[in-house]
Amino acid sequence: MASKLTPFVFRSGPRALRQLQRTQWRAFSVTAPSRSDSLMVHRNTPENNPSIPFKFTPQNEQLIQEILARYPSQYKKAAVMPLLDLGQRQHGFTSISVMNEVARILEMPPMRVYEVATFYTMYNRNPVGRFHVQVCTTTPCMLRDSDAVMKACEDFLGIHHGQTTKDGLFTFTEVECLGACANAPMVQINDDYYEDLTYDTTVSLLKALQHAAEATGAKPGETGLAGEAGKGAITGEDRNVKSGNEINEQGRAYEASGVKVPTPGPLSGRKSCEPASGLTSLTSEPPTGPEMLRKDGAL
Ligand code: FES
Repeated sequence: MASKLTPFVFRSGPRALRQLQRTQWRAFSVTAPSRSDSLMVHRNTPENNPSIPFKFTPQNEQLIQEILARYPSQYKKAAVMPLLDLGQRQHGFTSISVMNEVARILEMPPMRVYEVATFYTMYNRNPVGRFHVQVCTTTPCMLRDSDAVMKACEDFLGIHHGQTTKDGLFTFTEVECLGACANAPMVQINDDYYEDLTYDTTVSLLKALQHAAEATGAKPGETGLAGEAGKGAITGEDRNVKSGNEINEQGRAYEASGVKVPTPGPLSGRKSCEPASGLTSLTSEPPTGPEMLRKDGAL
């Protein structure tokens, strides 16, 4: 037996030794992690603690019934996201009381609701201003100068991202891609997208919103941060779109109680995400219709 093992030991021994001597680790470099600026844990505050009662309004109760009807009754917890959204819209932000109420309605452990609300950044777990200005700074927006948009917000609002103006009118946050890269750079303000922005159009947009808020009774300082969402705010109902969309120097505009605010969408004059310099293809012949397709069955 020993005589059989000896050649094996002589052959593989040096190889094993060489491998042992070889360094088994590689150095790699890491960039400094960018920590999120929002806490993933809940801390009780005067405006956000479980002793503050929260109930859905009768209209929202009705909506909840409609939402729940979309799911089998044994899977009603699948409605957690739309219900949290509804709660946020009613209360202004997704407070711990909103989460607890959603957990009660859906008969699920509150912790499961907290997990959802802390995972998705669209749930604001702290009060936000009447206008939540979310500036996209991901690569396509950054390449088309989202820095200028950030600077415009900082200059006009006098705050840095992650902060709310003292009057509670604007909250300014920096976000990742919002899916409107073809119209970069852009911001989301509440539910609306404003696109193809420059420093100047951003400032005039913020100015118009501030003016509109004052004109609709949402005077700065009148509403606390934890105020009732939508109170005095510009909502879909307030948008009195003029027939033919009156044109101002920024393009289309609508009236909000007599104040012109740019219509959501591109502020560059583009209608949508068509090429900024006009058509680049199909410029001469009209597109061929279905009758021009091959009839020999090859395609
Ligand atoms: S990168 Fe800004 S919308 Fe996609």
